[in-house]
Amino acid sequence: MTSLVVIFTLIITKGSYSLPTSDTQTEIGSNNINWRIVGGSDASNGSFPYQVSLRITRTGSHNCGGSILNSTVVLTAAHCLASYRPADLHVVVGSDRLNGSGTTYQIKQLIIHNLYNSSVIKNDIGLIILKEPLRYSNSVRPVELETRQIGAGVNVVLSGWGITSFPGQLPNNLQYINLTTISNDECEAAYREARASLPIYKEELCTLTRRGEGACKGDSGGPLVANGKQVGVVSWGRPCGLGFPDVFSRVSSYVDWIKQHSEAEFRKQNHGDKSFNFNFFQNDYNIDFERVELIRYNKSILSSCQVRAFKYNRTCAAVNMTFTPLIRDFEKLEVIIVQAYRFASNEYRLFPLRFEFNLCDAVFKYNMFGFKDFKNCGNFTCNVDKGKTYHICNWTIDQSKFPPLIPTGRYMAELQYIYITEEAMVLRAYGGVVRPFVFKEH
Ligand SMILES: *[C@@H]1O[C@H](CO)[C@@H](O)[C@H](O)[C@H]1NC(C)=O
Ligand SMILES: *[C@@H]1O[C@H](CO)[C@@H](O)[C@H](O)[C@H]1NC(C)=O
Ligand SMILES: *[C@@H]1O[C@H](CO)[C@@H](O)[C@H](O)[C@H]1NC(C)=O
Ligand SMILES: *[C@@H]1O[C@H](CO)[C@@H](O)[C@H](O)[C@H]1NC(C)=O
Ligand SMILES: *[C@@H]1O[C@H](CO)[C@@H](O)[C@H](O)[C@H]1NC(C)=O
Ligand SMILES: *[C@@H]1O[C@H](CO)[C@@H](O)[C@H](O)[C@H]1NC(C)=O
Ligand SMILES: *[C@@H]1O[C@H](CO)[C@@H](O)[C@H](O)[C@H]1NC(C)=O
Ligand SMILES: *[C@@H]1O[C@H](CO)[C@@H](O)[C@H](O)[C@H]1NC(C)=O
Ligand SMILES: *[C@@H]1O[C@H](CO)[C@@H](O)[C@H](O)[C@H]1NC(C)=O
Ligand SMILES: *[C@@H]1O[C@H](CO)[C@@H](O)[C@H](O)[C@H]1NC(C)=O
Repeated sequence: MTSLVVIFTLIITKGSYSLPTSDTQTEIGSNNINWRIVGGSDASNGSFPYQVSLRITRTGSHNCGGSILNSTVVLTAAHCLASYRPADLHVVVGSDRLNGSGTTYQIKQLIIHNLYNSSVIKNDIGLIILKEPLRYSNSVRPVELETRQIGAGVNVVLSGWGITSFPGQLPNNLQYINLTTISNDECEAAYREARASLPIYKEELCTLTRRGEGACKGDSGGPLVANGKQVGVVSWGRPCGLGFPDVFSRVSSYVDWIKQHSEAEFRKQNHGDKSFNFNFFQNDYNIDFERVELIRYNKSILSSCQVRAFKYNRTCAAVNMTFTPLIRDFEKLEVIIVQAYRFASNEYRLFPLRFEFNLCDAVFKYNMFGFKDFKNCGNFTCNVDKGKTYHICNWTIDQSKFPPLIPTGRYMAELQYIYITEEAMVLRAYGGVVRPFVFKEH
């Protein structure tokens, strides 16, 4: 009975599988079971490329697991993030060893589920938004999310650096274990029997195989995966491997929340700054648009791309462009980064003028640089179809829509088109800013 009280307390206060565990080194009973709770095996190098180690910046120690959703978003448990600020934590990817040659990424923002309830451990899910996008490799890859609700008896794999016995030490090598899901009723019954129960919500998912196997402290926030798709986020359980089910936040219950919050972040970060007024107006200079060059494009995003500038009328050059996307939906994903360079001392030098925006917002919402002319000739829309060819023609810039007070000179603007995180295409446009009729006093 004493031990049950301890367990109950542990579950309520520390039952979630996060570290540090300094005050949890209480012996629970004296069962002669094997304390090797994860009961897992060493993961071979690169076999869990989506696994991250979430660490405490001050000490550098591993605290929780997590999974890569895309280059800027990491999924973890809310209890791994609660009470921390972004600078208190960092993310390490790309190594199966805690002391290995992983890459460290700093955190821009921590997002805890708005209905996270720590006293009953409900909605234990959170997102980490990274400051810089991750560089993908063989050992750094995102995991897909399972959107369908999965039932009992499904084979799943859990990975993590959680302690391999309780109390115990973190393993250096990433561990993994094959587990099986059980129904929520069975899960709740198992805890009810121990009179140490927390409710099992339908937004949760449980696994159980046998005594001596399961999640433990340090595994929290980590991924449970079935058939290559993440189905759960390690949340809580009775520490550890005592034959009690492990409880996970059920990914399929949170896909909308995840989508909504990571998209919101992405937009804020890149092109959703509504306070920024893209609607420039200037009438103090003219632009002599000379030519445009297609520098490069990614053949797995565009199967073909041609750009041509030509003399449109006496004063103005125009651009024709033809391309075949291998992706859909420019609306959500295509971002343009425009960086200006000014010609000086025989070369184009970085000029402090840079914009990042969503292509479709820029064209249709803000009419940035007069881009709306895209619609006047050709068949470009934001909802492109995979494999079809699109044409933009007779596209001229609207000079009045450029930022005011740009110094006279020759310029090059580099336009980098980003699809999700990959560079799709780079164009360079050349021209001059001229003030033929200035009578300004100095
Ligand atoms: C693991 O794989 C990475 C990338 O493939 C490699 O750089 C590293 O040396 C490997 N480590 C071990 C222990 O094999
Ligand atoms: C990492 O830790 C393991 C086990 O503790 C040790 O054998 C190995 O030498 C360490 N490697 C590095 C690079 O520190
Ligand atoms: C957490 O859930 C418990 C039980 O449903 C409830 O009594 C409590 O008010 C909740 N706490 C918060 C902060 O919502
Ligand atoms: C876990 O399951 C996978 C796929 O079914 C299998 O390839 C692997 O050998 C299993 N590992 C262990 C340690 O049982
Ligand atoms: C990152 O992943 C989330 C969840 O799948 C998605 O909603 C979001 O749009 C993605 N962001 C980027 C930049 O791809
Ligand atoms: C091209 O895009 C694909 C798919 O988005 C990506 O995997 C690849 O790394 C990119 N290649 C280059 C050279 O950027
Ligand atoms: C040339 O075309 C541009 C863009 O349509 C227009 O603004 C400009 O007035 C034209 N110039 C002449 C001389 O027709
Ligand atoms: C595009 O410009 C060419 C001249 O360069 C002209 O012949 C053609 O009619 C224009 N097309 C449209 C749709 O404006
Ligand atoms: C767009 O126009 C080009 C050239 O006129 C044509 O070849 C292409 O089939 C059109 N694409 C669509 C999706 O209508
Ligand atoms: C640009 O495209 C338009 C419309 O398809 C076409 O009439 C014109 O000849 C093209 N101009 C050049 C220089 O390719």
